[in-house]
Amino acid sequence: MAGIKAVLIPGDGIGPEISEAVKLILSEADVPVEWQVAEAGISVKERCPSGIPEETIDLIKQYRIALKGPTTTPSGTGHQSVNVAIRKSLGLYANVRPARSLPGLNTRFSNVNLVTIRENIEDTYSGTEYMQSANVAESLKLITRVGSERCIRFAFEYARRQQISKITCVHKANIHKLSDGLFLEVFNRVREEYPGIEAENMLVDNACMQLVSRPEQFRLLVMPNLYGDILSDLCAGLIGGLGVAPSGNIGNGVAVFEAVHGSAPDIAGKGIANPTALLRSALMMLVHLGLNSYATAIENALFECFKEGLTTADLGGSLSTMEFARAVADRTAKVSSGEGVADEPKNVQELFVSSGDLKFNKIASKTVKGIDVYVCSEGVPGAPQRSGNLNLYAVANRGARVLGENSLRDQVDVYCLRYLSEKPVSDEEIESLLKMFKEGRLSWVQCYKLLELDGKAAYSEIN
Ligand code: NAI
Repeated sequence: MAGIKAVLIPGDGIGPEISEAVKLILSEADVPVEWQVAEAGISVKERCPSGIPEETIDLIKQYRIALKGPTTTPSGTGHQSVNVAIRKSLGLYANVRPARSLPGLNTRFSNVNLVTIRENIEDTYSGTEYMQSANVAESLKLITRVGSERCIRFAFEYARRQQISKITCVHKANIHKLSDGLFLEVFNRVREEYPGIEAENMLVDNACMQLVSRPEQFRLLVMPNLYGDILSDLCAGLIGGLGVAPSGNIGNGVAVFEAVHGSAPDIAGKGIANPTALLRSALMMLVHLGLNSYATAIENALFECFKEGLTTADLGGSLSTMEFARAVADRTAKVSSGEGVADEPKNVQELFVSSGDLKFNKIASKTVKGIDVYVCSEGVPGAPQRSGNLNLYAVANRGARVLGENSLRDQVDVYCLRYLSEKPVSDEEIESLLKMFKEGRLSWVQCYKLLELDGKAAYSEIN
């Protein structure tokens, strides 16, 4: 049969080495995939500061399926993460990471069989950050109804298709009452449509403790982006480490599969990196394409290698990256032609779960009840007590109400002044208040309108 075209991004660091290994294994197994190689990462930084050239995104949009090697992201400064950019620009809303104890690998647990599904675009990963003053940094955690519903609905559909009987929603809605609260609310709405699947929720801190003590209680965990980032690496640790953990980024009509690990600069170029994680990501891609028999044949060969102790150094063996690839290729049983394709994808779009109609986002009434004004000040600011109907309700520092001189000790130089009104607040009233700030030489850096949605306060309390 003609090969299915798929994009391959080798990436940087150990990326090119492990990509070569994966290519060798798939080609020796006669997997009908034709690679379209594209660039991303530090290798293109000179000509493309974002690390992800337009033509790479266009190629993924064209072929709608990609395998990506790791790419380096500088910390603190420099370009945004290439992964985050790819996820955002292609709308890859869910990240799927299976974590299963692998035959032949001696790990702390032998009974792990779970999947983490992580919302992949939102949360703090919008990367929207501000310095409010020289001493106060702010990062926006954005959780939306549509983003949460897409991911959660995908998780339930995934569970239904894979016959997974239980889903755990991981959150911190006791603290992040509105943002994680929204994620949990959507979870509780969607679960009603899947009565056959047991659904529970758990605070993220407890989930960490439960995962490292009794991982066998979990089958599928769905959660917002940041918790998913951390917990999925934790789950990788349960089954043998980053070197063996695969993942898939799923969007509507497009999917990008990649290893969970990064570019491992400490071992790059030494030829000792473990290609298993990228290989298993490629196998997820094959299953996604309906090429199940090829995926099974290669996976069986991989497990045989593990059982024979044929591994790279990170798993206790002595093989180089390419020696390991050769060992897997040599043990891969040939798939006879015609047997390989479980469900040939004429239209990749059909393989994806629709997010359904996003029907939960209607509200009857929206009123502005007040405003939070953030001001820079090296001491409690002398704020106006009222302006029109707006009355000063609280002065807060780092989210806590400032109560007299005793609470001064640990304060920073950004204060929140909360004004509330009994009546709906107009923009003109807010402008008048801000004019008083200007006259009083108070330097405000940011304002948030305080909304009431359907009669319910839609902002956090100041305690
Ligand atoms: P890392 O995952 O690259 O490395 C962590 C440790 O695991 C290192 O000791 C490394 O040698 C080892 N390791 C990772 N993959 C391995 C493999 N296949 N075989 C054997 N050992 C392996 O994480 P780190 O050091 O925090 O990040 C390095 C760079 O990678 C950073 O720039 C980071 O932003 C980027 N990164 C990229 C990702 C991606 O492209 N998907 C994901 C995570 C990090």
